[in-house]
Amino acid sequence: MENMRIKSLEEYHQRYAESIEDPERFWASIADSFLWKKKWDRVLQWDFNRFDVKWFDGAQLNITENCLDRHLAERGDKTAIIWEPNNPNMQSRHLSYRQLHAEVCRTANMLKQAGVKKGDRVCVYMPMVPEAAIALMACARIGAIHSVVFAGFSAQSLADRINDARCKVVLTADGVYRGAKPIILKDIVDEALLKCQDVERVFVLRHTESAVRWNETTDRWWHEEIRECSELCPAEPMDAEDMLFILYTSGSTGKPKGVVHTTAGYMVWAAYTFQNVFQPEENDVYWCTADLGWITGHSYILYGPLLSGCTTLMFEGIPTWPDAGRFWNVVDRHKVSIFYTAPTAIRSLMAFGEEYPAKASLASLRTLGSVGEPINEEAWQWYHHHVGKGRCAIVDTWWQTETGGIMISPLAHLTPTKPTFATLPMPGVQPVLVDANGQVMEETIAEGNLCIRFPWPGMLRTTYGDHERCKQTYFSTYPGLYFTGDGCRRDHDAYYRINGRVDDVINVSGHRMGTAEVENAINEHPHVIESAVVGYPHPIKGQGIYAYIICDNSTSSEESKRKEILEVVSKVIGPIAKPDKIQFVDGLPKTRSGKIMRRILRKIAEGDTDSLGDTSTLLDPSVVDRIKDGSI
Ligand code: WTA
Repeated sequence: MENMRIKSLEEYHQRYAESIEDPERFWASIADSFLWKKKWDRVLQWDFNRFDVKWFDGAQLNITENCLDRHLAERGDKTAIIWEPNNPNMQSRHLSYRQLHAEVCRTANMLKQAGVKKGDRVCVYMPMVPEAAIALMACARIGAIHSVVFAGFSAQSLADRINDARCKVVLTADGVYRGAKPIILKDIVDEALLKCQDVERVFVLRHTESAVRWNETTDRWWHEEIRECSELCPAEPMDAEDMLFILYTSGSTGKPKGVVHTTAGYMVWAAYTFQNVFQPEENDVYWCTADLGWITGHSYILYGPLLSGCTTLMFEGIPTWPDAGRFWNVVDRHKVSIFYTAPTAIRSLMAFGEEYPAKASLASLRTLGSVGEPINEEAWQWYHHHVGKGRCAIVDTWWQTETGGIMISPLAHLTPTKPTFATLPMPGVQPVLVDANGQVMEETIAEGNLCIRFPWPGMLRTTYGDHERCKQTYFSTYPGLYFTGDGCRRDHDAYYRINGRVDDVINVSGHRMGTAEVENAINEHPHVIESAVVGYPHPIKGQGIYAYIICDNSTSSEESKRKEILEVVSKVIGPIAKPDKIQFVDGLPKTRSGKIMRRILRKIAEGDTDSLGDTSTLLDPSVVDRIKDGSI
């Protein structure tokens, strides 16, 4: 894979230019270094109006052969995965590439025995343990499509995702740790499955040793089923555009979308971006603190690093347990050289003070990454000085579930960085900024909505079961362009700085959340008549959730309603969606056509009540004053 590595800033500019002038030639030469069962007929075919994109069409491959088999000769005994458990007094686990290969094959055979075939969907709802990573590759080995659901989602959310993808099998565990206490994951699966008709089999990994209920028809213990499974499993030949996985993400409408990624393009993109952004070396230990339940986990815990033959660390725990020094202890213990986390984690650790990173050596670190939300200057500086000790490169990587991998980012130690700027596009990425009239702004210094005007290999191909919605969401706002939903600024160096979402999506602790989704959840409370949710700046979470709620005139106290509403949201979506602030109101600012003017609610939530702008189009402008008076 040496030929894909950019080694200087000059080379970056050269390679970038090539990727624009002749994309097909550029990507063919990158793709050449992978293992193919059959090479492609065409590198790229595309049409952004119908939204039809094909990369490496006609080729056949299996991504797990590229993650595992191809490394066995040279790196068979090299550690592929280090697992650091939640409990710091427990032993960590090391799996070599050879062991991982064997486990993936055994698990693939276990799935096969349960009747899983190419094209079937498998839901993975698991803690951060190596078996979760193994599960994804086991699916890919036999051509099944994995759909991972973050283990913090509720039974209702899990059921919705299982049903939307019509999953046949669920992989889960008895429990998951959150800090000191175990949560019974299996109970949540049981509750979800009451609403799911298609699930034939549930494999349960024994992890927390918690007592679980058992359904004799569907449930099987993972360790029992896998016992007799062979360590050999031929890799299913997959077409380049066969689906690799579905991952649900929130948009501005109420229902999460199943973003679909396909095999070849995603593979090339995950590996190419990983290698160039992080510039890993053979003996590095690389650690991304995300959960496998998010795209960052898919691309940069699992696929990117393993495709590159790296050692990737999986961490089961949280940054603040047993104390706020946990990350830094793990870095020292495993000599981590590349560390990738989210601004919200940095801000939460900042609040505990610099003595925690000061107590650790952190001498093994060379590169620090940031992802998931805009990083503020203060957090950037703290990361740089107290974690990087002033000598590490910081890569602020902008991308999305839909983009499959990193789109705009410095290349570690090559691109000069500027705090809060994601800097320059990856080769192959053609960003444009669009003004309020939909015009592309050609001048260098500009600020507008961020779009991409040309396909890149890792882009989504559709949203599961609903291509029309996909076209509508991403390609209709600005015809001919992929719209990211983000606002962005480009400065005199042509560096990009992402300002955040411009649609009704908020980013809470790096988690993407549709305001409509949260509203729908709140509205399930029997005494709620209507609600409106907006984001507001939150010192640690980036954005907090502010809910304006109209209730009926039931006699229960505000305090008890508040408590019940939080419970309802937890139950419908999960604890991550609980509003930080709830204001009970008697009306919402609506236009004559009945549309809620969120702009006003956002301003009030931000505490900026002096510049509410024009309220004359409101049906009842007096409602604004009453909301202002009651604001929190
Ligand atoms: C935001 C996570 C600023 C952005 C990989 C995007 C960022 C959304 C950055 C995607 C960054 C992600 N700087 N904002 N470096 N990275 N975002 O799908 O608003 O969970 O649209 O993918 O996160 O979130 P998602």
